Amino acid sequence: MTQTALTPALDARRLRADFPAFELEIHGRPLVYLDSANSSQKPRQVLDAMREFYETSYANVHRAVYTLGERSTAGYEGAREKVRSLVNARAAREVIFTRNGTEALNLVAYAWGLDNLGPGDVVVATELEHHSNFVPWQYVAQRTGAAFAVIPIDDQGELRLEALAEIERRGRVKAVATALVSNTLGTIVPVAELAAWAHERDAVLVVDACQAVPNRPVDVQALGCDFLAFTGHKMLAPSGIGGLVGRQELLQRMSPFELGGSMIRKVTAEKTTWADLPYKYEAGTPPIAEAFGLGCAIDYLNAVGLEAIERHERELTEYAFARLGELPFVRVFGPPADRRGGLVSFDVEGVHPHDVAQLLDGEGIAVRAGHHCAQPVMDRFSVAATTRASFYLYNVSEDVDRLVEGLAIVRARFS
Ligand SMILES: Cc1ncc(COP(=O)(O)O)c(C=O)c1O
Repeated sequence: MTQTALTPALDARRLRADFPAFELEIHGRPLVYLDSANSSQKPRQVLDAMREFYETSYANVHRAVYTLGERSTAGYEGAREKVRSLVNARAAREVIFTRNGTEALNLVAYAWGLDNLGPGDVVVATELEHHSNFVPWQYVAQRTGAAFAVIPIDDQGELRLEALAEIERRGRVKAVATALVSNTLGTIVPVAELAAWAHERDAVLVVDACQAVPNRPVDVQALGCDFLAFTGHKMLAPSGIGGLVGRQELLQRMSPFELGGSMIRKVTAEKTTWADLPYKYEAGTPPIAEAFGLGCAIDYLNAVGLEAIERHERELTEYAFARLGELPFVRVFGPPADRRGGLVSFDVEGVHPHDVAQLLDGEGIAVRAGHHCAQPVMDRFSVAATTRASFYLYNVSEDVDRLVEGLAIVRARFS
């Protein structure tokens, strides 16, 4: 395939001007950033708004009865409402702020799992999970005596749902944990189908949407999930903020996850009672400016349009597939381009992914190399690691061309 410009779903070239990182040169070359699935770059709109927030509106939240405290609380709670609207949660109190996606998933595994699982129960996760939605469930299953079952993936990295029949024979299915989009293979999981299966068995469905909320419309009610985790740093927001969206009835019944300030109603030597949602799950001083920054990032994403971002990523992924297909020494893992999110994991014959990433860095190209916190996926494909290029709203087709040129250089060094 020749190097063609894509018909734009959005104007990535214009958007790039919002991101200071794209003014950088790395080793004398303009930066090509292909690691947004790991963490995204941040636009000036978010950076400037956070600075202004700290300069004009910062104090602790919820406990200050003065103007700065009120401004700060308004910024923090305003962000909660923006998250609610973004994922179509039923109420803002169903949105719990956490420090990242991992904390959101641990919150469910501990606060729901420890009280609701026991011998004879089965917790189900998929083979393509990020460790954050795998290890906590495996651990809580071990702690409670429940069985831990894994839905396997096929050679294209898609779920083998026929395995559910065998999994069900292992006991009472109580929880199903799945990603919406795999961070390693890009697989888009049929979550609504899993939700129906889980709910027919009175199980809860926990969706790790860390790789979906940044780049496509996500609707918790349409998905039918009971809990949904996401993380801010992959969606133009600062690090240190993420969230769990959960069904109110479940959140109300569950025990707290962390204990201390801000999450109590009344404390005496005999007994402590808990604050209402969402504060019952937000112990201590929360990431205030980070939540505010997340709200600003959501404004930015909404202004660009989530549908447009999804389409842009799909076009770039299809282009990357076609161009990587020109390189006989590159093997791509996972489903075809039209059935995956905006990332491509691959192997360069005879070159370790860490060498690939290091040599690409020498060309100014940032990619991720490693097991992507998904060792079961690496085992499934009998590799220790892969190289991953991931796309976002600011990537352009020339970034893919630079990657392909870079890989030819890498290969030449090793042959
Ligand atoms: C699918 C998926 N789940 C969970 C996480 C963990 O998110 P965080 O790094 O915010 O804890 C990541 C991030 O790498 C991810 O890609």
